[in-house]
Amino acid sequence: MPAIQEVDDRATRALRPSRETVQRPPDRAPSPYRWGHAGEVYPGPWQVQGLFVWAREPVGSDHADRGGSLMSATVIVGLQWGDEGKGKTTDFLAEQTSMVVRYQGGDNAGHTVVRGDEVFKLRLTPSGVLYPHMTSVIGNGVVVNPLTLIDELDMLTTRGIDVSRVRVSRSAHVIMPYHVALDRANEARLAGAAVGTTGRGIGPTYGDKAWRLGLRMEDLLDRAVLRERLERLLPDKNLLLSSMGADPFAIDDLVDLALGWGDRLGDHLDDATWLVQRALARGEHVLLEGAQGTLLDLDHGSYPFVTSSNPVAGGACTGGGVGPLQVDEVIGVMKAYSTRVGSGPYPTELLDGIGQGIAERGNEFGTVTGRPRRVGWFDAVPLRYAVAVNSVTSIMLNKLDILSGIDCLRICVAYEIDGRRIDTWPSSGAALARATPIYDEFPGWSEPIHGVRSLGDLPENARRYVTALEEHAGVPIVLVSVGPERTQTIERAWRAMRQRQVVPA
Ligand code: IMP
Repeated sequence: MPAIQEVDDRATRALRPSRETVQRPPDRAPSPYRWGHAGEVYPGPWQVQGLFVWAREPVGSDHADRGGSLMSATVIVGLQWGDEGKGKTTDFLAEQTSMVVRYQGGDNAGHTVVRGDEVFKLRLTPSGVLYPHMTSVIGNGVVVNPLTLIDELDMLTTRGIDVSRVRVSRSAHVIMPYHVALDRANEARLAGAAVGTTGRGIGPTYGDKAWRLGLRMEDLLDRAVLRERLERLLPDKNLLLSSMGADPFAIDDLVDLALGWGDRLGDHLDDATWLVQRALARGEHVLLEGAQGTLLDLDHGSYPFVTSSNPVAGGACTGGGVGPLQVDEVIGVMKAYSTRVGSGPYPTELLDGIGQGIAERGNEFGTVTGRPRRVGWFDAVPLRYAVAVNSVTSIMLNKLDILSGIDCLRICVAYEIDGRRIDTWPSSGAALARATPIYDEFPGWSEPIHGVRSLGDLPENARRYVTALEEHAGVPIVLVSVGPERTQTIERAWRAMRQRQVVPA
C-alpha cells in the first residue's frame, strides 16, 4: 500500500504546475554587464562591458564595496580541439590574478609559455607558476602522474622558479603505471579504430575514478591504504594486461613507488576546494584553466575520439571547486585556424601545401607527444556550439600572424550532410564524418603582423577576417595574439583588467 501511495504522490506532483512556473519572477531586462554582439572590429582600447566587469565600478560604489561577494572566478577554456594557446592566455592574464587552478586532464596536455628567450613546457603545473605572487593549484578534477609532476617541479626549481606555491588537491586521482600500460595496450589492440590517445593513461585513470577503484593523491601517504587497495584491484588489472600481451605489475613494487611519490609530494597536498573558496571570499581573482578543448570533451566532443574528462567550462565547477554562480567570465581561446591531434572526423582538414605551410609556420607539433598536428581552415560551426555550451563571454584569438602570406583564406560556415545544409554542430560523430564543409572566402594579407599592437593597425584584410570570426562567435574578441611572446598581443580590454586592482581586500 505505501508503495502505491508513493506513486500516487509522485503522479500528483508531476501534474501540478512547477514552482518555477507559478512563482517565477517576471523576466528581467538583459543584464547590462553582458556583451552584445560586437559585429565590428574597433581599433581598441575601448570601454568594455564584459571582461572583469565589476572592476569598472568606481571605488565607493555598491559593487566595489562588496569585496567578499565579488564573483571573480574566470574560466579559460579551449574552443577547438585543444592546443589553442591557453597557456599564453593564462600567462597573459596571470599578472592580474592571485591563483590559477587547473581543473581537468592530466599530463596529456602541454602548455608552452615563452618568456623572453626562455621556453617553458608545462604539462601539469598551471602556467601562472612563473609568477612569484601566484598560487598554482592542481584541482580535484585533474589526474596526476606523480612522476611527471616531480620532474616538472624539479625542472622549474632548477630554472629558478619557486614551486612552494604549487598546491595539489588531495582528491585528485593518481595515474598509476598500470593505467599507462592499459592505455597503450588498448590502443594497440584497437589498431585501425584507435583513438590516437597520448598514451598517458588518462582514460583508464578516469575509468577507475568512475568505477570507484582509483587511488587519490592523499592515498600516497598511507602504506596500509595503498596495500589494501592495490591487493583488491591489481589482480584484475594484471589479468587484463596479460590478455592484451602486456607485462603484469608486482604489488610490492607499486606500494614502494607510490610511497616514494607521496614522500616527495606530501608538502604540496592541500584541500584545493577551500583554497579556491577562501581566495574568492577575500575578493581575489582566480583563473580556472582548462586543458584540451571543447571538441575533445567527453560529453560534447566527437565521441569516441575525445579525451576522458570535461574541458568545457562546466568542468571548472566540478574539477576546480567553484559553484556555477561564482564564475563571472568565461574566456574562450581559439586559433585563427584549426588543428587536431589524434584520430576522428575533421571536416575542414587541409591535406595540401597550404596546410603544410601553416603547420610549419605555426610549429604545429604536439607538446607532449611531438606528433604533427592535423591542420585545417577555421570551422565556425563548432565555434558557435562551443560559445553556447561554455557560456563564453569573450575570446582570445591566437596565432593570427601564422596566416600572413596566404592569398585566400576560408572559414567553414556550415556543413552539407547527406545533401542538406546543416548549421549546427552534429552530436553524432558518424554524421560529422559525412560532413562536407561550406566555406566563405576572404582575401588574405601578405604583411607580417608581429609588431602590430592595435586592431586598427592590422592590414584591412586581417581586420575583416577577425570581424568575420567575431560575428560567428557572437561575443567579442578581446585579445588577439600576433606572436608567441606575452608582449605580442593586441589588447582591447586591458584597461578594465588593470582597474580590477582597485577592489578592496
Ligand atoms: P587522451 O586524452 O590521451 O586519452 O587522448 C584522447 C584524445 O585527445 C586523442 O585524440 C588525443 O590526441 C587528444 N588529446 C589529448 N590531450 C590533448 C591536448 O592537450 N591537445 C590536443 N589533443 C589532445
